[in-house]
Amino acid sequence: MISAQGLTKRFGSQTAVDQVNLKFVEGQASGIIGPNGSGKSTLFNMLTGHLPPSVGKIEFGGLDITALPPHERVGMGMARTFQLVSVFDSMTVWENLVLSTGRFADRGSGHRQFFFGPARSKTILENCLGALERVGLQDKAGARTSELSYGDKRMLEIGIALSLKPKLLLLDEPLAGLSDHEIGDVVDLLHEMKQNCTLVIIEHKISKIMDLIERLSVLNDGVLICEGDPEAVLNDPGVRECYWGKQVSNAKG
Ligand SMILES: Nc1ncnc2c1ncn2[C@@H]1O[C@H](COP(=O)(O)OP(=O)(O)O)[C@@H](O)[C@H]1O
Ligand SMILES: [Mg+2]
Repeated sequence: MISAQGLTKRFGSQTAVDQVNLKFVEGQASGIIGPNGSGKSTLFNMLTGHLPPSVGKIEFGGLDITALPPHERVGMGMARTFQLVSVFDSMTVWENLVLSTGRFADRGSGHRQFFFGPARSKTILENCLGALERVGLQDKAGARTSELSYGDKRMLEIGIALSLKPKLLLLDEPLAGLSDHEIGDVVDLLHEMKQNCTLVIIEHKISKIMDLIERLSVLNDGVLICEGDPEAVLNDPGVRECYWGKQVSNAKG
């Protein structure tokens, strides 16, 4: 579905992502872990077009998308959520949904008109309503977003992504900052979404997504140090060392 070859991002003299090759297969859910600052979000930002790579190539559905802006990637079926929830506090839940969905649907067609045709606007509204119900916010459609809990804001952000009907959804730490109860709700939703969407999830709380993912990749200092079956990856000596340090890794065998 999406692949990267030699993907590299330099910020001045620092190499945040270093010659990463990876492939996320259609229909699979994959996890990405790594210590803070290891380049996970930077990798996502390149895959989604929010940052241009310094070097490397990205293919989506077999097409070279390295130079495409984010909204064109959305038009091709790619959606994302951000590490810090990204919704407009000053608008209602419904306005957030319709505005974001309408904006992408509009720009994806190459026209910048504010009003879309009746048929298209009907589809957009239906998608928004469907997404609102899937994330369980239908009763809060008219609420001002600033009044939502952080968990509900996260759900709204996921709802916006879902309303775009993505084939590929990239989630950057979707469980960060949520209560155990909220984590349960988001994990349930991820399981449901997995039925018709390829998922790539950056997440520190790896135990919460072990049942969900088929593959796990580990970044350390911008380098992809291990990938494969999640259990095997977590037991890999190099991965344990990167998380727990050499001594612990040796002591525990
Ligand atoms: N826009 C930026 N400008 C300069 N440095 C950045 C920028 N974004 C990230 N970095 C640096 O790149 C490294 C990787 O960051 P990031 O991708 O956010 O890591 P992670 O998501 O794994 O915690 C960090 O050292 C960070 O400070
Ligand atoms: Mg990050």
